[in-house]
Amino acid sequence: MKNKIEIYFDEFRDLSELNENDREVVKASMAAAENAYAPYSGFRVGACVRLGNEQLLKGNNRENAAFPSGSCAEQTVITYAGANYPDIPIRTLAISAITNNEFTPEPVSPCGNCRQIIAEEEERSGEKIRIILYGNKKIRVIDGISGLLPFKFNKKSLGD
Ligand code: THU
Repeated sequence: MKNKIEIYFDEFRDLSELNENDREVVKASMAAAENAYAPYSGFRVGACVRLGNEQLLKGNNRENAAFPSGSCAEQTVITYAGANYPDIPIRTLAISAITNNEFTPEPVSPCGNCRQIIAEEEERSGEKIRIILYGNKKIRVIDGISGLLPFKFNKKSLGD
C-alpha cells in the first residue's frame, strides 16, 4: 500500500509580513548570527527561542579547529534553554544565517542532528515548537518538527 505524508508550512517574502511576535524572534536570531564564531566555514548562524514565559534566548554556531567539536546555533540555544529554564517550554525557534556578509536569500535548513535535537525538546516539554526559517527572499514557518522530520526516532523507538 502506498502512503502519503502531507506537510503544511507558511511562506512569506518579507519580515514585514510576519506577526510582531515572530518578527521579534527572527530579528533576535539575526542579531545572534552576527556574533557567531565560524572562522572555518564563514557560515554564521543565529538562533533565537521564545520561551513560554515570553523570554527570548539567543545562540549561534561555535566552530572548532577540530571540526566535529563545533556546535550548531540551534543546539547551542536549545541546550542553554534546557539547562537554565528546564521547566519552561520553548514555543518558537527562529534561525537565520549570514554568508559573504549577507543573510542567505533562502531559508536556513537545519541539519539532521539539529532536527533530532528539536524533536527531543518537543518530546521533553510535550509541546510543539513553531519553527521559523529566515531567508531574505523567503521565510518559511513550520508548526512543529514533524514537518521537518517525519518518521523521527524518539523515546518510543527505544521500546518500553
Ligand atoms: N550550522 C548551524 O549552526 N545550523 C544549521 O542549521 C546549519 C549549519 C553551522 C554548522 C557549521 O558551523 C556551519 O553552520 C557550516 O555548516
